[in-house]
Amino acid sequence: MNLTGEIFFPGDKSISHRSLMFAALCNGKSKISNLSTGKDVQSTKNCLIDCGIKIYNEKSSYIVEGGKFINPKKELDCGNSGTTVRLLAGLLSGQNINATFVGDESLSNRPMKRIIEPLKLMGLNCSSKNFTLPLKIKSSKLNGINYKSQIASAQVKSAVLLAALGSNKPTSFIEPVLSRNHTEIMLKALGVPINTEKLKTTISKITKQLKPFNFNIPGDPSSAAFFAGAASMVKNSNLVLKNISGNDTRLGIFSILKQMGVTVLKSNKKNILGEKIIDIRIKNKRLNGIKINENQIPSIIDEIPIIAIIASQAKGQTKITGAKELRYKESDRISSIVLNLKKMGADITELEDGMIINGPKKLKGTFIKTYHDHRIAMAFKIASIIADGENQLDSIDCVDISYPEFFETLTKIT
Ligand code: S3P
Repeated sequence: MNLTGEIFFPGDKSISHRSLMFAALCNGKSKISNLSTGKDVQSTKNCLIDCGIKIYNEKSSYIVEGGKFINPKKELDCGNSGTTVRLLAGLLSGQNINATFVGDESLSNRPMKRIIEPLKLMGLNCSSKNFTLPLKIKSSKLNGINYKSQIASAQVKSAVLLAALGSNKPTSFIEPVLSRNHTEIMLKALGVPINTEKLKTTISKITKQLKPFNFNIPGDPSSAAFFAGAASMVKNSNLVLKNISGNDTRLGIFSILKQMGVTVLKSNKKNILGEKIIDIRIKNKRLNGIKINENQIPSIIDEIPIIAIIASQAKGQTKITGAKELRYKESDRISSIVLNLKKMGADITELEDGMIINGPKKLKGTFIKTYHDHRIAMAFKIASIIADGENQLDSIDCVDISYPEFFETLTKIT
């Protein structure tokens, strides 16, 4: 068996959340096509509707009638989605809204101090349960801040930048390593006064109402990564990932695959709302182990589960360090990866901030504990392709969080 042909992907999850939120800020009707079909983006859509924004289907697109937020009458249910709560908390703080954010069990255990701290510094009146959900925000007059973040997180950066849209003075946010920059790129394309120099982004209040936009969202490179991984591991594969986001802050996995020996060819560049769209061809070659350090982590933060599986098939050692953030995702992804890969027969050692994998090792199918984490489930389904025997996942529904079409596409391509 080899993987050949072309795959198109549903809209990028990060860009989908932002498209809905930014359309909600614009005065009038925006049209968004190829919105992510995942449950996380549905959570953002439903929360915005609860805040008085009209969002509805028209043919295969979404229409968002934005311009005015109201106080939601019920708690905003963010489901499993960290991006929904962290970005919306910032956005609504800047729009003088009172709201309470809640989420599912996983989200309720994820850290919110990272956004609460800077938002409080801006003057936001808010309360939480030990810096976790539920998080209550109260309409407050916000100040500009100059904030140096210890964590490279696009969610934290976006929360602060979006809150700053409602503050009187400019705000600057400095991050330790560049994280995904969709917020900055899209806001700039919409006419917001925002400027990035290296790791520092400065933003000022919007002085005129933003104009609505039409946007066809590029495919999700984090969903494409699972198929890129499969094609990298299966002999004689030659697969094209079509129309995916070509934003460099998202393409770390492709640089890593190249470094491991895979042929990676990028082509067909387009540009829409400042965001690039590209095709990527992946051709399998012999894989070698590599070192991955903290400077590379933000650009592969969601792809490390599949990268670990690829590394188990590479000759020599792969060492991933500086990735402690993985412990605060939908599951503790360092332990989810290590536990399951070990069960499959890989030579893998857990580090506090990463892992060491020695390969290649023939893997065997086993019972996989997904911890209801969508990316763990998809990565270990892909691992089945190169294993002796099938993996049995304890949950497959969690895949709907980001990529409901995953199993259908996998069946078509294998
Ligand atoms: C996201 C940022 C990342 C990523 C998440 C989506 C975003 O989280 O893991 O899936 O859309 O801003 P962090 O910024 O917390 O690393």
